Amino acid sequence: MGKFYITTPIYYPSDNLHIGHAYTTVAADALARYHRLRGDETYFLTGTDEHGQKIQRKAEEMGTTPQAYVDRIVKGIKELWSLLQISYDDFIRTTEKRHEERVQEIFTRLYEQGDIYKNEYEGLYCTPCETFWLERQLVDGKCPDCGREVEMVREESYFFRLSKYADRLMEYIETHPDFIQPVSRKNEMINNFLKPGLEDLCVSRTTFSWGIPVPFDPKHVVYVWLDALTNYITALGYPGDNTLMEKFWPADVHLVGKEIVRFHTIIWPILLMALGLPLPKKVFGHGWLILEGGKMSKSKGNVVDPVTLVNRYGLDAVRYYLLREVPFGSDGVYSEDALILRINTDLANDLGNLLHRSLSMIEKFNGGVVPAPGALVELDRDLIRAAEACGAKVAQHMEELTISDAVMAIMDLVGRANKYIDEAAPWALNKAGNRERLETVLYTMAEVLRLVAVLLTPFLVETPGRIWEQLGLDGKPVDAGWDQGIRWGGFPAGTKVKKGDPIFPRIEVEKEDQAAPAKTEPAQAQQAQQAKEKAVPAPQDGAAGLIAIDEFARIDLRIAKVLAAEKIEGADKLLKLQIRLGEEERQLVAGIAQYYRPEDLVGTEIVVVANLKPAKLRGVLSQGMLLAASDGEKLTLLRPEQPIKDGAKVR
Ligand code: ME8
Ligand code: MG
Repeated sequence: MGKFYITTPIYYPSDNLHIGHAYTTVAADALARYHRLRGDETYFLTGTDEHGQKIQRKAEEMGTTPQAYVDRIVKGIKELWSLLQISYDDFIRTTEKRHEERVQEIFTRLYEQGDIYKNEYEGLYCTPCETFWLERQLVDGKCPDCGREVEMVREESYFFRLSKYADRLMEYIETHPDFIQPVSRKNEMINNFLKPGLEDLCVSRTTFSWGIPVPFDPKHVVYVWLDALTNYITALGYPGDNTLMEKFWPADVHLVGKEIVRFHTIIWPILLMALGLPLPKKVFGHGWLILEGGKMSKSKGNVVDPVTLVNRYGLDAVRYYLLREVPFGSDGVYSEDALILRINTDLANDLGNLLHRSLSMIEKFNGGVVPAPGALVELDRDLIRAAEACGAKVAQHMEELTISDAVMAIMDLVGRANKYIDEAAPWALNKAGNRERLETVLYTMAEVLRLVAVLLTPFLVETPGRIWEQLGLDGKPVDAGWDQGIRWGGFPAGTKVKKGDPIFPRIEVEKEDQAAPAKTEPAQAQQAQQAKEKAVPAPQDGAAGLIAIDEFARIDLRIAKVLAAEKIEGADKLLKLQIRLGEEERQLVAGIAQYYRPEDLVGTEIVVVANLKPAKLRGVLSQGMLLAASDGEKLTLLRPEQPIKDGAKVR
């Protein structure tokens, strides 16, 4: 048992937050909950970054003071985190006295030791991003981050000696391969920022007043990144109060979006070096959630409101989607259709159904009481092994921050458990009067659900408890902790289950189609909707897999004649076919070797998808896919009912 300190970025309260901010925060929450479950002493920090010119201007536009403006937005942010059940231990606001005083102390100390000095600054500045850029960093003369105009700004400023520490930082990054994750971002930092050389950083401004005054030169306010990054230590009481610092510093993970990895892996570590503090163990830059129409941003106004989504689909459905859908680290497209699909397949069909059918059978075949297991057979042992391995997989993925893979590992177990029921067929055991075997199977079903409930607790916040309750168990799934909670065999035999409503009702698609998309304002909704329509010519009805006729027409199905067929060495399921579609001959690889002998295929006609992207299977090129029907046991090829010229179109 160790300690775990995790942070999110502190968000700008320039507007209400959107699904992108929820994405980072829910992920951090899952990691925090996981470490608490493991028994680690955990500290989870989030907050808001409230100073700067942008917020000052915004407040002016709204005819209010910056403080009143951010107070209102921050109230909404805290309500959002409470709606999403974000289990943060502290919420720091950079306008709080505890932060402001400590930033001033840090600034003074750095000045006194010579790491901050006063100079004149002239540079290209992007106001919305509050970032200075070098000429060569601009894209078409505009801000490389947001694409807007930059202005030439000249002012007297304080500077922080980044350059002095550049070599030390380079060495640190190279000797600590885990520091910047994923690895691709590390290479980007080295090649794009460190190698070209670091310039000293402007850390004060005189052109606006909404900031922390430089204590010994109060016409300057502390410029935003020094103010912002230090939150990770001021929240722990640095400098002054060492209690939390000693316990939790250095941070285990700073979780951030990829666009601010730069600040967290260059400026922040150098600040820490100058203060003589250890560096964070890991900065993880995750990808962006993008709308089908492009990047989502508060300033573009095309944002998805998490509150609407939670009200419509429920908290755990939204959390599940955020944690599962996109491989953590990569960019991903947010779509409400995909969210509905996840609910209906993973949550309603797989997980919900596992619970419901298990409890129904325990009721029907054993009066609602979970029996004690008898002797195990290989089928049971196989599932138990999978359940035991699942914990280790989840642990490894959470260590590596591949959160979506952790969720997937649990859902694989759910799939295995459903398959176990199909194979063990308790209904048949009941009919045959095979009581001992039936009892073992029913116990196994209940026990795997108990484990699934515990394993899900870092990710979902309502569902594990509901599964627990329906299983008839006392207390809460987190109570036992990780080691004991996921150890096989903990289900108390004799427990009476309490089957309830399905935990995830299917989303009826027609109904949702009439509802407005979950965007904040009507004009924005329309804009986003238009963007959506433009970006995806394909089916918009497709929430639960419905497609339009023109979508079907894009699939080029053809009759093909098999000219030759052979096995592929080392792949016992695959056959390599040479086929002809009218004029054209092609090679195709198909997983039918267990059902068809090559010599029986030659000369016959099959149906193929002719416009599938070519792929390599076991290194063998496949240009298309044949159609076959399968019920899980049997597989049969689809063939024309009467001979027809190959190349003929199937419609
Ligand atoms: O940058 N997809 O605040 P911010 C995924 N105050 N994540 C997204 C996202 C999207 N579309 N949009 C936002 C700031 N995020 C500074 C940080 S830290 C010392 C100071 C998330 O309000 C993601 O974590 O612009 C991103 O890094 C962060 O919100 C930016 O929030
Ligand atoms: Mg930003």
